[in-house]
Amino acid sequence: MTPLPPNIQTPADYAPLAQERLDRAIWRYLQAGSGAELTLEANRHAFSQGTLWPRPLAQVHGGHTRLRLYGQTLAHPILAAPIAYQRLFHPEGEAATALAAAAQGSVSLVSSLASQPLETIAQASRQGGQAPWLQLYWQGDRARTLRLLERAERAGYCVIVLTVDAPVKQATLDLPPGIHAVNLEPLPPVQRLREDQSQVFDGWMAQAPTWEDLAWLRTQTRQPLLLKGILHPDDAEQALRLGCDGLVVSNHGGRVLDGAPASLTALPAIVQRVGQQIPIILDSGIRTGRDVYRALAQGATAVLVGRPIIWGLTCGGALGVAHVLRLLRDELELTLALTGCTTLLDIAKICPSTQEQLQ
Ligand code: FNR
Repeated sequence: MTPLPPNIQTPADYAPLAQERLDRAIWRYLQAGSGAELTLEANRHAFSQGTLWPRPLAQVHGGHTRLRLYGQTLAHPILAAPIAYQRLFHPEGEAATALAAAAQGSVSLVSSLASQPLETIAQASRQGGQAPWLQLYWQGDRARTLRLLERAERAGYCVIVLTVDAPVKQATLDLPPGIHAVNLEPLPPVQRLREDQSQVFDGWMAQAPTWEDLAWLRTQTRQPLLLKGILHPDDAEQALRLGCDGLVVSNHGGRVLDGAPASLTALPAIVQRVGQQIPIILDSGIRTGRDVYRALAQGATAVLVGRPIIWGLTCGGALGVAHVLRLLRDELELTLALTGCTTLLDIAKICPSTQEQLQ
């Protein structure tokens, strides 16, 4: 087992250590946003806004951060985001992340682009005490997508999260030998285009899912189905209408459409539109337990954490991931206690107008 580096106080302390250990191109692949990195910056800036009001003298004995989400009891609302090709970062890859997340009373979302078999990762997750969730990428057509979904369901994946914000993926890294998306069939060949056709509209986007495909997918699974990558309230409403059981408000960690808003900025309008009816999970830019608190204060039910989990994985395998999650949870608990909250629900109760507390 990889020993943990000494003197780590916060998840961010893992970042420079991870950078030292990774090949430059792999570090860049992990950290990069897109374009001028406007959205990446916006994500961080959004979490630096607003004041947290201390509420001393509150009786917080017996407090906790537990919640129930899609039938699972989680010790805290901090989940591991789906990240592709985790064997780039540690030989134990996705299985280490899944084991650690589950052992920390949480859950891991396993990417369609995982570098280990879905069954191996599911087993590691169960060993930690939780069934994992599948992050589904549309596989170019319905038949391929269904085969991947059915395989994951057979392996025990209990929640399906369809990522819809990255239909066109630009290859930013040449994968080293031996690391690839082991669970995927080759994509159908892109249709030969006429001269007057566009590579984007008629080529790549022809393999991207549409609302009609989502309606179809809804009929193919009984598991909770979530959409990841929603930022506009109209899209949130449409997802709800088509039977989605939840949303991940996300800009993919600033990696796709540069100029997209910070997900924290987009969250309130989505919560207002559909938040009474389905859980809303938020990701993109969470680095501390205080960030988790701010997301929950704006109406998120839970959060996903991406890069910090991978910093931990790089430096310490499963132990490193578990440590990052524990640090985030400890800091969330402390923030709750210092603001007079004993449970996650209190965040909203104590400040019914969250704006008031965060101004
Ligand atoms: C991602 N993300 C991602 N999302 C997804 O749905 N499927 C995937 O395979 C991947 N792969 C991936 C690789 C890398 C290297 C990164 C950094 C991100 C996006 C991820 O799930 C999540 O939305 C963001 O990482 C959240 O932002 P933070 O926490 O990294 O700021």
